[in-house]
Amino acid sequence: MDGNGRWAAQHGLERFEGHIRGVESVRRAIQAATRHGVRYLTLYAFSTENWGRPAAEVDALMELFCKSVINETPELAAQGVRVRIIGDKSRFPEKVKHHLDQIENRTATGKRLTLQLALNYSSRSEIVHAMQGLARRAAAGIFSPEEISEQTVSEALYTAGCPDPDLLIRTSGEQRLSNFLMWQLAYTEFYFTPVPWPDFTKEELMKAVEAYNHRDRRYGGLKEE
Ligand code: FPP
Repeated sequence: MDGNGRWAAQHGLERFEGHIRGVESVRRAIQAATRHGVRYLTLYAFSTENWGRPAAEVDALMELFCKSVINETPELAAQGVRVRIIGDKSRFPEKVKHHLDQIENRTATGKRLTLQLALNYSSRSEIVHAMQGLARRAAAGIFSPEEISEQTVSEALYTAGCPDPDLLIRTSGEQRLSNFLMWQLAYTEFYFTPVPWPDFTKEELMKAVEAYNHRDRRYGGLKEE
């Protein structure tokens, strides 16, 4: 969800205003996903690198996460959305952790859409964390190194149980992964758009889906007749 800061600058606003507008795009994307039968949606909201931003912006984002989570939980629960946080929650202030735990608990029975919020997320850290878990189990004698497979690694990631994404969308012109779901995106189709996240409407989402529908996914094989 890139480009909130640039959108704000273009409109003569503070960066934080861009993040506030970004929440509206989040709401639109979730609504469109539920209406169109998308079963899994993952939003990259805060990376481990984002702690390096000015304290005022980080604090404002923490407040915005809490406020959004409190405001949106009833509607998400009513819509059958299950929220799952992926990333290392332990670094968040207690208040933020509390609200993140609450939204996970209160939406735990949702069956329509699994919404993964990547918060304090880094793909490399996720893989290291998974490896440490497997190594600990091996050291305790309950797992043998031969059991390390693509499946057991996938099951040790934060995204365990969630299928690999079909489509990755990055807004605001940047064409890189920035430490996002590197294991999971091995065969994903990428869509890059210059549109900044606050301007990412349902129509823009449909354009991305339309582009995806014209892709020819071969997974390294040959084109089917
Ligand atoms: C990247 O734009 C965006 C972020 C670091 C924050 C994204 C967060 C939201 C949209 C709020 C979502 C809230 C919930 C609860 C999911 P940027 O600041 O890097 O923009 P720039 O590259 O133009 O500076």
